[in-house]
Amino acid sequence: MSTAVMRCVRWSPGLVLILLAGSSWSRSAEPANSPKTNAATGPVPWTAQEDHRRMMDLLQITSLRRGAEGSNRQSPYAANYDEAKANPYPHLPDLLVLKNGQEVTTAPMWWDRRRPEIVEDFDREVYGRVPKDTPKITWDVTGTTRETVGEVPVITKQLAGHVDNSSYPAITVDIRLTLTTPAQAAGPVPVMMEFGFLFGPGGPGAGRGGMSKGGTPPAGRGGPGKGLGGTGPGWQQQVLAKGWGYAILAPTSIQADNGAGLTQGIIGLVNKGQPRKPDDWGALRAWAWGASRALDYFETDKDVDARQVGIEGLSRYGKAALVAMAYDQRFAIGFIGSSGAGGAKLHRRTFGELVENLTGSGEYHWMAGNFLKYGGPLNAGDLPVDAHELIALCAPRPTFISYGASSGPGAEGGWVDQKGSFLAAVAAGPVYRLLGKKDLGTTDLPPVETGLIEGELAWRQHSGGHTTGPNWPTFLTWAERYIKPAPATKS
Ligand code: GCU
Repeated sequence: MSTAVMRCVRWSPGLVLILLAGSSWSRSAEPANSPKTNAATGPVPWTAQEDHRRMMDLLQITSLRRGAEGSNRQSPYAANYDEAKANPYPHLPDLLVLKNGQEVTTAPMWWDRRRPEIVEDFDREVYGRVPKDTPKITWDVTGTTRETVGEVPVITKQLAGHVDNSSYPAITVDIRLTLTTPAQAAGPVPVMMEFGFLFGPGGPGAGRGGMSKGGTPPAGRGGPGKGLGGTGPGWQQQVLAKGWGYAILAPTSIQADNGAGLTQGIIGLVNKGQPRKPDDWGALRAWAWGASRALDYFETDKDVDARQVGIEGLSRYGKAALVAMAYDQRFAIGFIGSSGAGGAKLHRRTFGELVENLTGSGEYHWMAGNFLKYGGPLNAGDLPVDAHELIALCAPRPTFISYGASSGPGAEGGWVDQKGSFLAAVAAGPVYRLLGKKDLGTTDLPPVETGLIEGELAWRQHSGGHTTGPNWPTFLTWAERYIKPAPATKS
């Protein structure tokens, strides 16, 4: 069959099998329905369902358990919101015991021995590995705007990070980023970078077919200009008022937010248009990688104090912010918004969203292929690591875990499992303490709007919905202890 014909047909697993029978491809790769392409034919045009199925085949998984239903309370799969049923696996992996059983009692033991073990488990089983050689990026300032945000004159640079695609020209990746700094800053400023929640091709909403959804209304995500429920200064203004700058990164310019995109974007580029191996990186790791590349750029920009760059995100981008913070120790501070399953929530909790949602075809692309095992033959209790260890990888750097309320008018709801995330933060505490820092300081979940901001590990639920918006003032009050603005301003 000609390449042109191959490209026009809409793929389905059955069709793939028919088309491949008798072709040289049917002998080439495992599993049998894996087509091969090259630079001339372009990336493998899977749908998310096909790619998901292929990964199941590769891992010899015959079936996956269904995820929880967030919206239909009558469904037999309705999400559990009963604390009495939330803890089928009460024992968390011990974060301060080496694989050989030895206890970790000193900071060097943590850094040199235990931390690398945990990173390896997250790499292999949960988020996937960043390839050893990722292509070089060239950053261009594609535009500069002078404007006033609130009362503050600022300069905004539009940036494009061109990823070297000479190894596979069929895929182009240009990372989109904006950087806004006070025009009158006398020197480099701290910067808060947000994973922007953009709606567009490959963005949230694309490729979600068949996924069980719960409580994440599109409104109120605290995007540009949104403040406390629409009133008061937006987060950018609050950041500028402290003498800091801000940046917004477009995650889907790095990697699409769906399974169909896994043979494209940065993951597809490195794989030359082929589908993933089971321990290859997923979208969360790719987004976090992109944030690190933005940080590389900041290190070259004289307007930015690159030692004082923080990362913030909400929901799937809250997960990405936590992954970025955990993996790249150059991030000075993290603001982790409503990250839920795959983020700060303990996988072992049966409450709200489950591992089985993450392993479904609407979300598996966030994770490594290997993670699928935990929604089929294995379960959450078999994971070698859990969310408390991801939070511990951020230690000793200041990390703020943010949620809305689980109940009440305008609340976020329990899909994100606030309590499961609080328990993960509590369980991460020993590493903060081992490294000479303060953890949450309590094991009791505080009431909504009571922040725990005495230590490097911080927690707060605001009374609103699925947004970081109302937690910005508390975050900044806390963050000021660690992040110092530029010393003076030009007159
Ligand atoms: C869904 C999904 C969550 C995710 C959220 C979002 O609700 O279940 O895990 O965080 O979408 O990113 O909007």
